[in-house]
Amino acid sequence: VDFVDIDPKTYNLSVEALELKLKSAEKKGQLPKIVVPVHFAGQPCEMRRIAELAGRYGFRVIEDASHAIGAKYRGEPIGRCEHSDIAVFSFHPVKIITTGEGGMAITNEPSLAREMRVLGAHGITREPKELTVRDAGAWYYEMVELGFNYRMTDIEAALGRSQLKRLDEFVERRRELVERYDSMLAEYPVVRPWRIPEGESAWHLYVIKVAVGGDTPYRRKVFDSLRESGVGVNVHYIPIHLQPYYRSLGFRQGDFPEAEAFYSSALSLPLHPGLGEDEQRHVVSALQRGLG
Ligand SMILES: Cc1ncc(COP(=O)(O)O)c(C=O)c1O
Repeated sequence: VDFVDIDPKTYNLSVEALELKLKSAEKKGQLPKIVVPVHFAGQPCEMRRIAELAGRYGFRVIEDASHAIGAKYRGEPIGRCEHSDIAVFSFHPVKIITTGEGGMAITNEPSLAREMRVLGAHGITREPKELTVRDAGAWYYEMVELGFNYRMTDIEAALGRSQLKRLDEFVERRRELVERYDSMLAEYPVVRPWRIPEGESAWHLYVIKVAVGGDTPYRRKVFDSLRESGVGVNVHYIPIHLQPYYRSLGFRQGDFPEAEAFYSSALSLPLHPGLGEDEQRHVVSALQRGLG
């Protein structure tokens, strides 16, 4: 596994950094098989440019749309897989819609859909045309791969279907809250979220930067002050290459400077459909005190 640095404006994968990495990987004969762009916070990545590189360098694209159900890119919902092979969603309870736990992978390619179904159900198939033994009996199945149990329960699926009906309402509410945060914070010394001109975010997160240029102690002070005021702020995310597992594979501080700079000043303000105007005012006045 390898990583690509983020774009300091969009906080998504930097297509320029990806292209540079691909050029050098090609020279070394180490081109990737798969690239996984994450639609961070719900803002779509620049999928057309990524798809162009996929065509040129021969890799497959899996969109990590865990934050982006309900987002749009060039007028189409994220998940149509027009510029990718597979899109995956997370339905963890903190996400835009939930099934309690679990998620979904979708594709337009029948062979990939079949492969995912088989891998998710112990590598077992009952498709008559895939069996090596024909007419063995109605009980007969074959294990054709070493699979897993990734099946969603019917109970989770029922919750997901009911949540899906409310998706537009949830995303609309998030957009209203974001508009209000944006206007409340207009005069504050913080960087508000960028907006993709050719799409619409699903606004899973509202991430601000409180110290341009990177200042971890200052962000810590603002964070602690907000928590002391009872505001559930958070930080998304610790750069993954700095986690002990990836450090043990050789990744180091300084490998992805933009992601590290972002991390040093990022703060996620509370954002969920149940957030009221008074609560938003409380968040913003607590932030004002914390920044002071
Ligand atoms: C961007 C992103 N990808 C993947 C995941 C993993 O999702 P899950 O916990 O549903 O497997 C998360 C969960 O937080 C996420 O935020």
